[in-house]
Amino acid sequence: MQTRVDEIAERIYRLSTFLPRVGPQGLTFNQFLVDAEEPLLFHCGQRALFPAVSAAAARVMDLRRLRWIAFSHIEADECGALAEWLAAAPRASVTHGAIGCAIWLNDQAPRPPRPLGDGEALDLGGRRVRRLDTPHVPHCWDAGLLYEETTATLFTSDLFTHAGDPRPVSSGDIVGLAAEAERQFGYTTIGPATGATIRRLARLAPRTLAVMHGSSFTGDGTGPLESLAGFYDSVLRERSASSDGA
Ligand SMILES: [Fe+2]
Ligand SMILES: [Fe+2]
Repeated sequence: MQTRVDEIAERIYRLSTFLPRVGPQGLTFNQFLVDAEEPLLFHCGQRALFPAVSAAAARVMDLRRLRWIAFSHIEADECGALAEWLAAAPRASVTHGAIGCAIWLNDQAPRPPRPLGDGEALDLGGRRVRRLDTPHVPHCWDAGLLYEETTATLFTSDLFTHAGDPRPVSSGDIVGLAAEAERQFGYTTIGPATGATIRRLARLAPRTLAVMHGSSFTGDGTGPLESLAGFYDSVLRERSASSDGA
């Protein structure tokens, strides 16, 4: 198993492992390392990936420098290896939204978490991340995303998931690929708030979308986020029409 490392924005590194047996085309599992005075890791990866991912992270920095570990929601690929990361990085604390701390981390984390409120920022020293609560988007009650303000990078978690082992960064159409994957896997909790939640992210006008499964996107991130919101609105309309007609 090989984890590749690519710098997708200034001092933001994508650690990517391709698992060919996940789904018909295989799937990448990506973590992101933000290098700052207080470095932050977004997503832990599954426990089985920890040896490969941590070795890749160690090519970027001494793991003992790691200060923060964050993720979008409670799921194996997002936070399965949390205990392993905390053991490898004795200075690190896990940070998550208030709901995730209440329903999981206060009980399960090896060290007490640092809760972050909706809209609250964490100054990393040279980089600054803001937490945005996105309950049930892409899925799970505790879901939220981080936005790195100095590079305008939005860590999108499972939003924009697309299959295969595409190049690390793309400025092409990732929405069409994400729509295809959504129809194939059905991983998003699609409800009346889904489109509005994603439109709130579009208003950040990110320049990089750091995608958990697939290529990261570089360019004007507003357009892809608005298109993705429109896609979910259309799926919801289709489902309502078919249940009305049933
Ligand atoms: Fe997920
Ligand atoms: Fe994921």
